[in-house]
Amino acid sequence: MIKPDAVRAGHIGNILQMITAAGFRIVAMKLTQMTKERAGQFYAVHRERPFYDELCTFMSSGPIVAAILEKENAVEEFRKLIGATDPAKAEPGTIRSLYGTSVGENAVHGSDSDENAAIESAFHFSGMEIYC
Ligand code: RTP
Ligand code: MG
Repeated sequence: MIKPDAVRAGHIGNILQMITAAGFRIVAMKLTQMTKERAGQFYAVHRERPFYDELCTFMSSGPIVAAILEKENAVEEFRKLIGATDPAKAEPGTIRSLYGTSVGENAVHGSDSDENAAIESAFHFSGMEIYC
């Protein structure tokens, strides 16, 4: 996902350019806004964390770009491209380093495993919206 902060700041085009230049193929994509409840479901794994409510409020605060990306070793490769959760600690040149503004508002989300990537893909897209 391109998160609401980066969409609001007008970074969709630049971020997609970085993603495709890095060799990812976009197989599904949409601009959509999650309700706070849907954001809560998406990040349910963090529900006991102190930042959960703030995270759900932020993630439902405006439209996001949801996308499914395909590449060899995609999960690990995408996390390399986005950089560390805290933009201040992200490698220079990574998406979060360039476009993130704080640990909470960090421009993009990446799945953390193939298993979660499949769950998160089904969260945002129906089979007919996926062009593998
Ligand atoms: P993401 O799931 O969004 O790709 O981020 P991540 O794996 O790098 O980090 P994760 O630990 O899964 O945290 C999910 C999102 O919660 C927000 N967060 N806020 N205020 C805080 O201390 C804090 N810590 C995490 C961030 O938006 C983070 O991306
Ligand atoms: Mg995560």
